[in-house]
Amino acid sequence: METNPLSDRLEILSVRLLDEERPRVNELRQLAGQLGLEFGWHYLLDLTWTLRHLGPAAGKMLMDAGAGTGIIQWYLAQHGGTVYSVDRLDRSALPLRLRAHTRVRGLRAEDLLSTPAVMAHDRFATRTGAARPKRFFRNLQALVVGLWPRRGGEVILYNQDLMTLEDLDDDSLDAVVSISSLEHNTPENLEKVVSELLRVLKPGGSILATLCTAGQKDWYHEPSNGMCYSAASLKRIFQLPADLPDNFDRYNTLMDELRDCAELRDNLAAFYSRSGHNGMPWGRWEPLYQPVGVIKTKA
Ligand SMILES: C[S@@+](CC[C@H](N)C(=O)[O-])C[C@H]1O[C@@H](n2cnc3c(N)ncnc32)[C@H](O)[C@@H]1O
Repeated sequence: METNPLSDRLEILSVRLLDEERPRVNELRQLAGQLGLEFGWHYLLDLTWTLRHLGPAAGKMLMDAGAGTGIIQWYLAQHGGTVYSVDRLDRSALPLRLRAHTRVRGLRAEDLLSTPAVMAHDRFATRTGAARPKRFFRNLQALVVGLWPRRGGEVILYNQDLMTLEDLDDDSLDAVVSISSLEHNTPENLEKVVSELLRVLKPGGSILATLCTAGQKDWYHEPSNGMCYSAASLKRIFQLPADLPDNFDRYNTLMDELRDCAELRDNLAAFYSRSGHNGMPWGRWEPLYQPVGVIKTKA
């Protein structure tokens, strides 16, 4: 599929995206509800920014890098993309409610247990969260979606570290998206990840990644086990020109707007209040860093 290559870009994500991308915000909220997924505290900014720049997914070969079970892979497949879902976590027992929504397969045999195997396990599990009749129909749906002839998009699970994507060919993907994942890597490892992502991209293809920043210095946010990278570090790690314009001079203004954003503050996912080891410890609205978007296009 021919599209114009994206320009390299580095920007702190403004809360204004929520109003600018309102139809997409509504669509994402609806999909999250259907799939039983919750948003990280700034994910609606990350997701809308990424989807705005990526453009239509239909017919594209994509990767969700550091995908977990996050929403963008299901969104892109629903919109007709083929999505390699890569994460170093073992997701082979992927929940049936996700298989019921989207056609999913494993890249290798070990990447995804069969749906009947997960159904058998699910049957004896004590805490499935779903009432019995609902579970029966969901399981049936998961089976049918898995057997249905390929139509539209699909998700291909690959449980692998992003530093070594040996099962993916050079120059094979149109774009890589990554939602708030790459900050969980040291600078040295992140450089290796970026090289590997550039290897598998077609020339003219792009990495669209969101990470975290605390401004002009690299800083480790211990509760979320994540690095907050400065503009200079992001430019170096993502091989962007040192003089690429960015909006880091507006860090404080954008932070004030973020702190005052009632829509994000009042919709914090429930899991934040259950622990102090996350991006918003114990669910207290106190942003200490901001989401930042990077686009790196392969020459
Ligand atoms: C905070 S979660 C975000 C998950 C998902 N992107 C979402 O939108 O919900 C970060 C994920 O990135 C994955 N990750 C980080 N670095 C990785 C690497 N080098 N290789 C594979 N997965 C990685 C982690 O295992 C984790 O599942």
